Amino acid sequence: MARKSGKMRSFNVAVVGLSGTEKDKGQAGVGKSCLCNRFMAALADDYSIDHISVLSQTDFSGRVVNNDHFLYWGEVTKTSEDGIEFLFQVIEQTEFIDDATFQPFKGSKMEPYAKRCSATKITSAEKLMYICKNQLGIEREYEQKLLPDGKISIDGFLCVFDVSSVPSRTIEKQVEAVLTILNNLIKTKKPIVLVTTKNDDANETYVKEAEKLVGRKEYKGAIMLVETSAHENINVDVAFIVLAQLIDRSRGRARVLPFIEAARVR
Ligand code: GTP
Ligand code: MG
Repeated sequence: MARKSGKMRSFNVAVVGLSGTEKDKGQAGVGKSCLCNRFMAALADDYSIDHISVLSQTDFSGRVVNNDHFLYWGEVTKTSEDGIEFLFQVIEQTEFIDDATFQPFKGSKMEPYAKRCSATKITSAEKLMYICKNQLGIEREYEQKLLPDGKISIDGFLCVFDVSSVPSRTIEKQVEAVLTILNNLIKTKKPIVLVTTKNDDANETYVKEAEKLVGRKEYKGAIMLVETSAHENINVDVAFIVLAQLIDRSRGRARVLPFIEAARVR
């Protein structure tokens, strides 16, 4: 196992994708939180489909959200098929909405989401790990784990693309938003994996749009595609492991199965 100063090296991943008000993202989110939750959850019972999005001012300034538009999901160790261990720290870049005004909360540095989510140096003093929606307001009743040293440097990005049909969100809108996000992520020169979510409820033409996105000439084949379902726990771990292997190429290359095959062999 590769060790750095006596400690296992950690792969710090930011999960990003279309975010914002209902007007921006439609009636449901694209699945960033569910993907993170499935990846972090040790037990199936730790998986919830309901995560925070619209909040009170009190919850926004509580220690979990900490006046930020990102969540710290904590750390987890995973083993690839060839037996190599990976330690991950995960954050989700989203946009929290004020339940009084239905507008995004005004954070300290409010750049547009597509720019903000590409940040690689992130700080937030005394920020607590997010566990579940019910935790807000009663943080002491849950494990209280801090974002280490109040900071994290991001090594790679998982950009989410929802392939299910969501009311009040057009596919054109999502493609446009994800393109803008990808163009910002590319500038960081960090590895990127495009993760399609909700493949258990996929619309075939949306799947094709995701393939077209990663196939764009300007990306020169640099962006990998992994088809997942958080609800069914298909291809979730492999999406993160493939990203870690792009970050550290000495750690092998996992085989990524298309969704249908991955669902069959499970
Ligand atoms: P915001 O952070 O609010 O922008 O949303 P998000 O991107 O974190 O989306 P979230 O993970 O909260 O998912 C929104 C909804 O999508 C969930 O409540 C689920 O109903 C649905 N969803 C998420 N993952 C899956 C999946 O794997 N399959 C299906 N069928 N639905 C999913
Ligand atoms: Mg979320």
